Amino acid sequence: MCGIAGYIGEQNAKDIVINNLKKLEYRGYDSTGIAVLDQDISVIRAKGKLVELEKKLEDESAPGHVGIGHTRWATHGKPSDENAHPHRAEHVVVVHNGIIENYLEIKHNLINNGAQFSSETDTEIIPLLIEYNMQRNGLDFEQAVLSSIAQLKGSFAFAAMSTTEPEKILVAKNASPLIVGIGNNEMFLASDIPALLEYTQDVVILEDHQMAILEKDQLTLKDFNNTELDYQVKKITWSRIAAEKDGHKHFMYKEILEQPRAIADSMRSRISKQAAKVSLSELDGMDTDKFNKIVFCACGTSYHSGLLAKQWFERYLRIPCDVELASEFRYNDPIIDDKTLWVGISQSGETADTLAALHEAKDKAATCLAICNNMDSSIARAADYVLYTQAGPEIGVASTKAFSTQLSVLAMLCVHMLQAKSKDKVSELVHAILHLPEAVQQCIDLNLKLAPLAQKYMQYSSFLFLGRGDAYAIALEGALKLKEISYIHAEAYAAGEMKHGPIALIDQNMPVMAILGEGIHQEKTLSNIEEVKSRDAKVLIVCTEQQVQDLKLDQNYDCLLIPQCHNFIRPILENIPLQLFAYHVADQKGLDVDQPRNLAKAVTVE
Ligand code: AGP
Repeated sequence: MCGIAGYIGEQNAKDIVINNLKKLEYRGYDSTGIAVLDQDISVIRAKGKLVELEKKLEDESAPGHVGIGHTRWATHGKPSDENAHPHRAEHVVVVHNGIIENYLEIKHNLINNGAQFSSETDTEIIPLLIEYNMQRNGLDFEQAVLSSIAQLKGSFAFAAMSTTEPEKILVAKNASPLIVGIGNNEMFLASDIPALLEYTQDVVILEDHQMAILEKDQLTLKDFNNTELDYQVKKITWSRIAAEKDGHKHFMYKEILEQPRAIADSMRSRISKQAAKVSLSELDGMDTDKFNKIVFCACGTSYHSGLLAKQWFERYLRIPCDVELASEFRYNDPIIDDKTLWVGISQSGETADTLAALHEAKDKAATCLAICNNMDSSIARAADYVLYTQAGPEIGVASTKAFSTQLSVLAMLCVHMLQAKSKDKVSELVHAILHLPEAVQQCIDLNLKLAPLAQKYMQYSSFLFLGRGDAYAIALEGALKLKEISYIHAEAYAAGEMKHGPIALIDQNMPVMAILGEGIHQEKTLSNIEEVKSRDAKVLIVCTEQQVQDLKLDQNYDCLLIPQCHNFIRPILENIPLQLFAYHVADQKGLDVDQPRNLAKAVTVE
């Protein structure tokens, strides 16, 4: 869950690597470091955010045109200067993202051969192993890296430099993401694409079990058996601006406001008003009629997308659906077979739990469809089919626009499979989906002034979110957003479940956010609201203006409004005010909204 970056060329490596790390900091930010190669290697590391390293660098020149850097999310060894990357041996220095599962065994062997360790990390074995292979086995840098890789088990993307061959950076990839950026007489490397956009849109995305030798005017790609490989340069269409704040205080707020555009982009050339039809050409060749079960599998916010999708797919397709937490899935010996459609949902496409679950589903002969936002990410490449969301880079750790675009794509997938079965409802659902970008814009406009309401509730230490039917998944998502950026303990319950226990938590110190819903759910949720109100809870209600008038809700409750819409898309709208509420509570508390404590954007270790 770290970010690695690197540069080789004619410019000052320190400045470029630090700039790349700024774009990667959302991947992990408990300590950072940089190494620059000139006559010798200068290594500067600092506990805390990148600004701490920049302070240190004010007194360090760190000259050189070749450099690597790292921003960390600790897995082995607490955040400290000693455990921060880069880690070095006498001639070799390394930055690494991932987990070396057999590091203790290798560490003992190296210690028995005289190596000295100065950190608690798994990573430190890599430079010491390369050094050992160079010194003891007389291998050159490249051969030593290849021989070391052969001993490593686990996930890794690392970059290495050596004083013995100063005009090269060697990188290797297995399971963790690694991208090389092609420049004019210079090369860049990073854990993801947005970090490179300021310098180039020409990238090579490494596959598992590949290594690359970066020289300023040449890139050589090899597999771990030292066989040279051809490579394909991809032109990235995302603009540099897309990966920047564009004048907003936080990426999260900018990304919330981008949702109408992101949804419209995710629908482009997939849904037609004239034909009242959805066409997902990416699924050509998939026989959707053969499936007797769908399994949605994901983590966090993406898991909540799966929960809502189950509601839709069972309601309109009458096909049984399971929603599985990816971190549990492969340890449960799941009941799936070649008549199962396994749908993995992941913004980053790099979440290790979801990737492992995909491999499990493939081993059991399921058809695997990935819904991802990051182009050519590991999950996208491992799946049989992939539907990309077009949210653009999502930098804020709290997922917002990716969630809405996942739901838009899942809604289109539902209609795509429905229209293969019957024409009934298809046109109605197509028009509901086509209305989404406009409806989400209306929803944002209705909730732009939520800051005062957030201020009223920001001092509470707990919150309960309630929803019924489709709104239960949204209640879970609303609670997650508030939890992860404001650090307020928030739980979500199916409203009807409340009286079976959680209602014991209710008093004047426990605000309740209720998603009213409509039809039968409105009625039932209203009585649940009465139950908590009669126990002194402060209640906020997500509802339409019409419901406020009809039910005179504003006399007793704080209301977060959504526009009138078709019930198919209503949950997507109900989520928007919850995103903005959480955002303003965290912002008012002066917290780091984009990089909440203890979190990272892509969880690339299990
Ligand atoms: C959501 O705001 C969090 N960042 C987190 O729960 C996230 O949804 C989860 O880690 C899954 O990430 P993915 O969609 O990239 O797989």
